[in-house]
Amino acid sequence: MNRFFSAALCALFVISMSSVDAKAASDAKAGKAIYDTNCAACHKDGVMNAPKLGDKAAWAPRIKQGAAVMTKKSITGFTGKVGMMMAKGGHPNLTDAQVGDAVAYMINQSK
Ligand code: HEC
Repeated sequence: MNRFFSAALCALFVISMSSVDAKAASDAKAGKAIYDTNCAACHKDGVMNAPKLGDKAAWAPRIKQGAAVMTKKSITGFTGKVGMMMAKGGHPNLTDAQVGDAVAYMINQSK
């Protein structure tokens, strides 16, 4: 009984921790490392017409859509006015949250 109780408590703890995680805002700081390894290949120098990090003019109309829309498009991949980006920039190993963090970092650097 005792053991069951502590296991149940433990499970509750894990569940509450993960729901906190899901609600947490995107973490731009963590996003830097994700950007550096997964996104910079195109977004640093504008490969395939990707908007360059820090190019305010290129990012302004995109930022207007809001981070949530930008993150969704980055997760699923999209074709825009200047080119196409594959899902998660071609890194399916990334979690949706990691893509969100990288987008938050890119927005911070480009507005
Ligand atoms: C293979 C090249 C490539 C890689 C790698 C890449 N992107 Fe892109 N990305 C593009 C291109 C090209 C566009 C512009 C497409 C357009 O608007 O026509 C773009 C656009 C975007 C946009 C703007 C979306 C919008 O709504 O306008 C975001 C945000 C973005 N990328 C995030 C990321 C993130 C995050 C990563 C890394 C996980 C990443 N990209 C990796 C090519 C790439």
